[in-house]
Amino acid sequence: MTTFGIIGAGNIGSQVARAAIAAGYDVVISNSRGPETLADLVADLGPKARAATAVEAAEAADIAVVTVPLKAYDAVPVEPLAGKIVIDTNNYYFERDGHIAALDNGLDTVSSMLQRHLVNSKVAKGFNHIKSDDITTDGAPAGSENRRALATSSDFEEAAEFVNGFYDAIGFDTVNVGPLSESWRVERDQPAYVVRQNKQELIENLTKATRATA
Ligand SMILES: NC(=O)c1ccc[n+]([C@@H]2O[C@H](COP(=O)([O-])OP(=O)(O)OC[C@H]3O[C@@H](n4cnc5c(N)ncnc54)[C@H](OP(=O)(O)O)[C@@H]3O)[C@@H](O)[C@H]2O)c1
Repeated sequence: MTTFGIIGAGNIGSQVARAAIAAGYDVVISNSRGPETLADLVADLGPKARAATAVEAAEAADIAVVTVPLKAYDAVPVEPLAGKIVIDTNNYYFERDGHIAALDNGLDTVSSMLQRHLVNSKVAKGFNHIKSDDITTDGAPAGSENRRALATSSDFEEAAEFVNGFYDAIGFDTVNVGPLSESWRVERDQPAYVVRQNKQELIENLTKATRATA
């Protein structure tokens, strides 16, 4: 488990790349326009990073990260991610992604959609409710007072456990929300969304979540 293959190189992809490199991983990072457009980012990330196409990043991944606008989720390569843990940072913004009725009506979750697309992968939600810059600035050693907590969620225990360990390695506690069908609790506009909270506060905010109804 040594290489993060990152699909999406924007605010979150670049920051997860920095965090992964700091935690000792190699990174292969991709965007929609091609590796040559990532030269500055890769130079900034240093020798443990290289740019590639999305397919190549997926192939190289021991652990993958999908961090694209939700409207592009079905362009994520399927076959090279089969059998792999895939961390899904995505959120639904109808203003950007267009309306998706099942999300508007509380009948689906963002990460369940990606799991159905990546049918043989092990999707775990991660990093969706933290502002990108905070990923590399707000972490603290395990046991620190008021350590920030982040949520994960997966239908695969192994995937949730990986995210738990990765969060801990880069400075965050974890709350496991349960299966992806429950991950709406940490989606946009819920009390736990993009606020700084410690583990107890995150647990409380998750219980305060209310779901849109059809
Ligand atoms: N910004 C935040 O603080 C934040 C926090 C939590 C979660 N999120 C969520 O995480 C996701 C990414 O957010 P972001 O702010 O990082 O977005 P962003 O800055 O707009 O970056 C999106 C990245 O995805 C790439 N991309 C688009 N379509 C692609 C495709 N088909 N194949 C490969 N790469 C593709 C883009 O490449 P090109 O530039 O080449 O098109 C770009 O590198 C979104 O769902 C967002 O809602 C964001």
